[in-house]
Amino acid sequence: MAKIKTLFVCTNCGYSSSKWEGKCYSCNEWNTLLETHEIKSSKTTLEQKQQVWKEDTKKNVPKLLNDIHKINQNRISTNDEEFDRVLGGGIVTGSVTLLGGRPGIGKSTLLLQLAINANLKVLYVSGEESAEQIKMRADRVGFKNENCFILSEINLNNILKEAKAINPQVLIIDSVQTIYSPFIESSAGSITQVRECASELQRFAKETNIPLFMIGHINKDGNIAGPKVLEHIVDTVLLFEGDRNYSYRLLRVEKNRFGSTDELGIYEMHGSGLKCVTNPSEMLLSQSSDLLSGSVIGTLVEGMRPMLIETQALVSPAVYGNSQRSATGFELRRLNMILAVLEKRLGLAFAQQDVFLNIAGGIKISDPGLDLSITTALISSLNNIAVSNKTVFAGEIGLTGEIRAVNRIDQRILEAERLGFESIYISSFNKISLDKDKLGIRVYELSRVDELLQVVFS
Ligand code: TYD
Ligand code: MG
Repeated sequence: MAKIKTLFVCTNCGYSSSKWEGKCYSCNEWNTLLETHEIKSSKTTLEQKQQVWKEDTKKNVPKLLNDIHKINQNRISTNDEEFDRVLGGGIVTGSVTLLGGRPGIGKSTLLLQLAINANLKVLYVSGEESAEQIKMRADRVGFKNENCFILSEINLNNILKEAKAINPQVLIIDSVQTIYSPFIESSAGSITQVRECASELQRFAKETNIPLFMIGHINKDGNIAGPKVLEHIVDTVLLFEGDRNYSYRLLRVEKNRFGSTDELGIYEMHGSGLKCVTNPSEMLLSQSSDLLSGSVIGTLVEGMRPMLIETQALVSPAVYGNSQRSATGFELRRLNMILAVLEKRLGLAFAQQDVFLNIAGGIKISDPGLDLSITTALISSLNNIAVSNKTVFAGEIGLTGEIRAVNRIDQRILEAERLGFESIYISSFNKISLDKDKLGIRVYELSRVDELLQVVFS
C-alpha cells in the first residue's frame, strides 16, 4: 500500500522536517520550509532503484593518493569557441553542468546548438518539447551532427536506461524541473523531485563518466528554482542572461570546479540561432561619427574581457518641480553618488536638472571603471560641450573626488589602442606595465575630478 507522507522541505538547504517551522533548523533561514507530499510505495528500496541502470553495485575502497591515476585531463571540444572558454577549455568527462536562465532567454537553443554542432555522439533529452518541435528548431539553426539523438521523455528511469543503451559522449537534460523519478510520487518540479532527479543524474554521470548538462529554470528572485543543494551537487553552474529587448546574451560562470569563474561568453541571438560575438566592443560603440555632447566612451572589464562601451548622459532643466534621475544599465545609487561628488567638489549645479543615463547594448554594468566616462558624459551634457569620440576614459570616482585606480588597466589600454582610439585618460594611481612610448595611443593621467574641467573641457 502506498503511503502519503507530508514533509516540509527547506528551499535553501534541502533539510526536511515532519512539521512546519518558521526557521530552518539546518541553515537558520526564515520562511524557507515548503509543504510537499510524497507517496512512498512500500516495495521500492534503494537497491531496486539502482538496479534500473546498474547491474552490479561497485563498492568503493579507500586508495592511497599516490596510487590514484590522474583522470584524463583531455577536454572535449564543443566546437563553440565561447562555450569551450567558459567551461575552462572544453567539457571535462563525467562533469555535471547546470545552466540557468529566465524563460525564453535561449537556454534550449544554446544546448541544442551544442548538441548539433559538436562532433560528438550526443543524447538530447527534452521534457518540454516533442522530437518534431526540436527537429524544427534544429533545422532553423542548421545542423551538422549525424550522431545526435533526440529523446522526448520525462520519466527519469527511461531516460537513464536509454542513456545507458546509447552511451553518448554528452548527455543533455532539458530541463531538470520537467523530469520525474517514478519512485517519488510528488509532481515533477517539486523540491523533492528536483533534488532526487538531480542527484540520480549526477550519480549516473560520475559512474559512467558521461558529461551531463542540465537546464534549470529560474524563479522570480533570479535563483535556480528548486533546492539550493542543486547548485552544490553540480560541478559547474552557468547563467545565461540578457535583456529581452536586445539580442545580446551573456553566459556567466557562477561556479566551476574545473576552471575560472571569471570567464564570460557573449552571444547574439539571430533568426538562425545564437552566434558568438568575438569583438564585443564593436557592438557596444555607436556607429555615428558626429560629435554630440553627453556621449563618452568608457572601458569595461567583464569576466576577463576588456571592452569599450558608449555611455550617454542627458542633463536638462527640470520643468516639473522635482528633478528626475534615471539610469538604464547602471545602478541609480551610484549615479546619485557621482552627482553628489560633482556638486560638492566642482560646484556644478545638478539639483535643478533632470539627469538620464544610458549604457549601450542593454547590459547591466557593475564595473566601477566606468565612473570616469559617466562623470565626463554628465559634465559634457550639462555644459553642452562635446568630447572627442577618439578619446576613452577609465577610472573610478571616490567620495572625495579622487580618481581611483581600476583593475586590468593594461588590457583596457590595449583594447582602446586596438580599436584605433587616439587617447585614454586613466587614474594617476594606476601602475601600468606597458611602455607608453611604444603605444599607438596617448595615455593621460588624472588624479582628481577637477582636473577633468581643465584638461578635457578647457
Ligand atoms: P529558447 O531556447 O526556447 O529559450 P529557453 O529554453 O531559455 O526558454 O528560445 C528563446 C527565444 O529565442 C525564443 O523566443 C525564440 C528565439 N529564437 C530566435 O530568435 N532565433 C532562433 O534561431 C531560435 C531557435 C530561437
Ligand atoms: Mg527551453
